[in-house]
Amino acid sequence: MKTLIVYYSYTNNTEKVAKKIAELKKYDILKLEPLVDYSTDYQKVVDEEEAKMDSEEIVELKPINVDLNQYDRIILGTPVWWYTMAPVVRSFLSGNNLNGKKVIAFITNGGWIGHTVNDIKKYCEIESYINLKFNGDKIQNEKSLSDWINSL
Ligand SMILES: Cc1cc2nc3c(=O)[nH]c(=O)nc-3n(C[C@H](O)[C@H](O)[C@H](O)COP(=O)(O)O)c2cc1C
Repeated sequence: MKTLIVYYSYTNNTEKVAKKIAELKKYDILKLEPLVDYSTDYQKVVDEEEAKMDSEEIVELKPINVDLNQYDRIILGTPVWWYTMAPVVRSFLSGNNLNGKKVIAFITNGGWIGHTVNDIKKYCEIESYINLKFNGDKIQNEKSLSDWINSL
């Protein structure tokens, strides 16, 4: 079974997890990026995204230079943005049909995962997911993460 890690990360929490999985399991990895970068001003992004909450926004992504057809399993990483997946991840799911692949999600957040899981399920079936809480840039459940990676 060939596995690809696909993730988006704004402040690197999700990226650290994605890279840890890639390093330990030797899976291929794909970072999703918006065509137009978000501001580096964290509070500005938080406020602008709050104003767009529940709009199920789709943004344009930088081209993906990976043939998804080669992969049987996708490990999908997203931060939670206003109780759901980040728009970059929604845009990836909306633009790419993952039917027939196993999808496993890892969801980083500050403790309020909201309706992220159900929202991902609107686009693809997911086999399982892990909820990874961070306090700033510090992961709260490091041991669960390690156990989860080992179980993949
Ligand atoms: C725009 C925005 C909205 C956020 N909304 C939530 C939220 O609804 N619930 C939550 O627990 N954390 C929220 N956070 C915190 C992030 O989910 C958390 O810090 C995450 O680990 C960041 O991942 P990243 O470093 O890969 O971008 C939000 C952060 C941003 C920037």
